[in-house]
Amino acid sequence: MNIAIDGPAGAGKSTIAKLAASALGSVYVDTGAMYRTLALFVLEKGIDPSDEKGVLDVIGGADITLSYVDGVQHISLNGRDVTGEIRTAEVTRTSSMIAAYAGVRSYLVAMQQKIAARMPVVMDGRDICSVVLPDAEVKIYLTASARKRAERRLLQNEEMQKANGGPALTPEERETELGRIEQEIRDRDYRDMHREASPLVQAPDAVVVDSSDMTIDEVVSAILEIAEKAAK
Ligand code: DC
Repeated sequence: MNIAIDGPAGAGKSTIAKLAASALGSVYVDTGAMYRTLALFVLEKGIDPSDEKGVLDVIGGADITLSYVDGVQHISLNGRDVTGEIRTAEVTRTSSMIAAYAGVRSYLVAMQQKIAARMPVVMDGRDICSVVLPDAEVKIYLTASARKRAERRLLQNEEMQKANGGPALTPEERETELGRIEQEIRDRDYRDMHREASPLVQAPDAVVVDSSDMTIDEVVSAILEIAEKAAK
């Protein structure tokens, strides 16, 4: 059984998809990581990401491979593990820009379809229900309010800062940072939802799960329940 999960940035797709995949014994495929890896490649080649032709001319040189270490997806670019490197703010911004190009999308969609044809997957992204796996047995649209998504991202950042021994934010700094993150999330939503090539849409046959007021465990249980019903 294949499970397709779409939704906006920061809705918790990867956390949820990973847990659902391990409960079901399927492989978790993070397609956002593929767009990010191509973005890193474009940046390293010194190509301006707003130059569509320039981007399309070079992407054939990017050999992207997925592997799994203790159930965790690792992604390599021309043999180099870039799993950590693709999480910077610059790569995040660039990935959203190049994901708007139809040529970039068809290149990655073909790879994603090949993976899902080989093994049962829980795959997350923006166009998985609509384009990549239109025949998936289970389709989920996972969303949450922009404010909630910003709060979760800020908490993650604060935890990281604390772990690195950094200073805690004052309440005023916190409020400013929250506003900045929320705006960043809204901008990315806008770009992902308004591009011409496969915009993020709620597929008509997808089950909507709004995680704004749900815990991670509750969301995973909801998805497993949907999968169980579909298997009957
Ligand atoms: O899920 P993420 O933040 O890692 O995704 C990075 C960017 O890639 C995001 O701006 C949207 C884009 N993306 C996409 O267009 N289609 C997908 N299937 C996955 C990600």
